[in-house]
Amino acid sequence: MYNDNPTLEGINKEIIECKQGEVFQQDKKEGTSSDARKFYIESYGCQMNFSDSEIVASVLADVGFQSTTNMEESDIILINTCSIREKAEDTVRKRLRVFDKVKERKPGTLVGVLGCMAERLKKKLLEEEKLVDLVVGPDAYRDLPKLVTEVDEGGKGINVYLSREETYADINPMRLGSNGVTAFISIMRGCDNMCSFCVVPFTRGRERSRDAFSIVAEATDLYLKGYREVTLLGQNVDSYKWENPETGEKVSFANLLELVALVHPDLRVRFSTSHPKDMTDEVLHTMAKYENICKYIHLPVQSGNSRVLELMNRTYDRDWYIDRLNAINRIIPDCAISSDIITGFCTETETEHQDTLSMIELANYSMSYMFFYSERPGTLAARKYEDDIPLEVKKRRLQEVIRLQTQISFRHNQKDIGKTFKVLIEGDSKKSDQEFKGRNSQNKMVVFPKKEGLKPGEYTIVKITDATSATLKGEIINI
Ligand code: 5AD
Ligand code: SF4
Repeated sequence: MYNDNPTLEGINKEIIECKQGEVFQQDKKEGTSSDARKFYIESYGCQMNFSDSEIVASVLADVGFQSTTNMEESDIILINTCSIREKAEDTVRKRLRVFDKVKERKPGTLVGVLGCMAERLKKKLLEEEKLVDLVVGPDAYRDLPKLVTEVDEGGKGINVYLSREETYADINPMRLGSNGVTAFISIMRGCDNMCSFCVVPFTRGRERSRDAFSIVAEATDLYLKGYREVTLLGQNVDSYKWENPETGEKVSFANLLELVALVHPDLRVRFSTSHPKDMTDEVLHTMAKYENICKYIHLPVQSGNSRVLELMNRTYDRDWYIDRLNAINRIIPDCAISSDIITGFCTETETEHQDTLSMIELANYSMSYMFFYSERPGTLAARKYEDDIPLEVKKRRLQEVIRLQTQISFRHNQKDIGKTFKVLIEGDSKKSDQEFKGRNSQNKMVVFPKKEGLKPGEYTIVKITDATSATLKGEIINI
């Protein structure tokens, strides 16, 4: 298996040395010349898509394009898309209609579809959506400048090739819409799991892990630029594995977490998403060992019923999941756990739905992302099972799940009243510039009155005085 301790100091030392060289030194030159072509990018779907858009921006900035947040003044409009549910695709199609109008007003504007929808629909997208000029899959972003040139020359730019190797390891993402405090780092791409409801293995291809050196280098670079929190991203982070080609040394996810935690004690580390079948005690022990690894795990259950889990091809059952919950509670007693839940999967009975509700109670999730099942073309479930639960039943079950989760979240947050937390200040609260917002280690949003001298990117201790199902409220205390 994997090494427990992959010469941590060695790796971190090398990264600092390569920083003093060049590898991650150069900031993106955000083009300043007024004749530079401008691109505008919108992102939908998961955090991975938002992170990918930062890679796209970097690729384009490297060849002299300039990023803009004003769609009207852009020469290239890009939309990074999600296919996970039908609704996500509908949203994208609506946005394409809006882009059409911009094209009418400003002929010559290019429109490009990136990401999962590009990959799923391929050439069909160019045929269906006549005004789309570029179709670029998640592994083809390096090709964007070349594809733009092809479109300029009268062609259509399409590359939906899925790679077994691409991890964009050497690309320093251009942080878009950043608060300067928190950032995402993509540590792997693709997914090999084949959950029967999920389109991701088809749109993002095979799982591959990124070079650990480049991940630690990116985290170090972010820390030196003033960032204080990184979230390591992957569809299934627990199956991260990378082998140093020179030494043969193996790095597991637990090892990687440790390496990133060692970048600096003031750099918080989060990660998402964990798969219950792969989440090891080793990862939990690493989390417990480092104060700066946040005590929060997103551990999607999808369903609380073993038969449904089998149909979903999740490869664990209810008991296995409960065992993982117990391990978390034993090893990291102050850890918050969240989940993804699907209601109304093929053949799900009312009793099986009740098992999902009881799992929400049992797991005591701090929050969940909840969906009704949406059949996706080409998935295992679409090929094997009938989508037989009527829409109104799926939606009613979803409402029950949401209602219960809201109660549990409220209870979870109420229990925090009177406690004190170390909070990383992210910026002004949504409602008032007299208040800061930030998160505690458990990923709960905390809102509190500002105090002179404190600014985003700094830590402060907050005592919780009030709580809703979504937010904690408190005040800074002097310790
Ligand atoms: N229908 C509904 N929800 C889905 N998810 C993935 N595929 C589907 C689908 N076909 C949900 C899962 C996953 C989350 C990212 O989206 O809960 O964990
Ligand atoms: Fe989809 Fe399952 Fe992979 Fe998550 S683990 S991306 S739900 S196939």
